[in-house]
Amino acid sequence: MAAIAIRAETTDDAPALHALNVSAFAGDTEADLVDRLRREARPLLSLVAVENGKIVGHILFSPATLAGREDLVLAGLAPMAVRPDRQGHGIGSALVQAGLDACRDAGIDVVVVLGHPGYYLRFGFVPASRFGLRCRWEVPDEAFMLRELRGGCVGDTGGQVEYHPAFNGP
Ligand SMILES: CC(C)(COP(=O)(O)OP(=O)(O)OC[C@H]1O[C@@H](n2cnc3c(N)ncnc32)[C@H](O)[C@@H]1OP(=O)(O)O)[C@@H](O)C(=O)NCCC(=O)NCCS
Repeated sequence: MAAIAIRAETTDDAPALHALNVSAFAGDTEADLVDRLRREARPLLSLVAVENGKIVGHILFSPATLAGREDLVLAGLAPMAVRPDRQGHGIGSALVQAGLDACRDAGIDVVVVLGHPGYYLRFGFVPASRFGLRCRWEVPDEAFMLRELRGGCVGDTGGQVEYHPAFNGP
């Protein structure tokens, strides 16, 4: 495998990232979401994985909120995509690790994710239900997860974590 470089998204990357998300998700829902978040969400943390000069992976973190905990800086990890022919080679894992490091550097306290527990538990995510937290979508308890980047910061406030409004549709 050629070396993978991970870097921040730049302005020229948008078309390649749209195409990458369409191919990874076999449709344009997530690609359109990425475009909406790029327009509307701040701060946005967007990293790309580059191999042989081509973008092969993408991960995005956007602001999330928890009512009553305005002191907490939350980010939602979504979406994440690796080019189908390059999946299963550690590119997604490298993006999650680099993304969590970048979030920590940016002062983010908590990252939430809605996804497959079998994938995200390996990065230290735990079910958010352990903290009495849920998201607005009806999903199995274990699919909504969080990772504290500042140990013990979540406590037991509980409630519903809200992603950026761009997640609720165009
Ligand atoms: C999910 C995704 C980003 C992972 O990227 P990747 O580069 O293939 O991941 P890695 O190579 O780092 O890790 C591969 C591991 O992830 C697991 N994995 C990949 N997709 C998975 C899924 N949908 N559910 C559970 N596990 C999954 C593989 O089984 C493998 O496990 P192993 O290490 O125990 O063998 C990539 O498969 C993808 O783009 N999928 C389509 C889009 C998608 O579903 N995105 C996630 C939205 S939350």
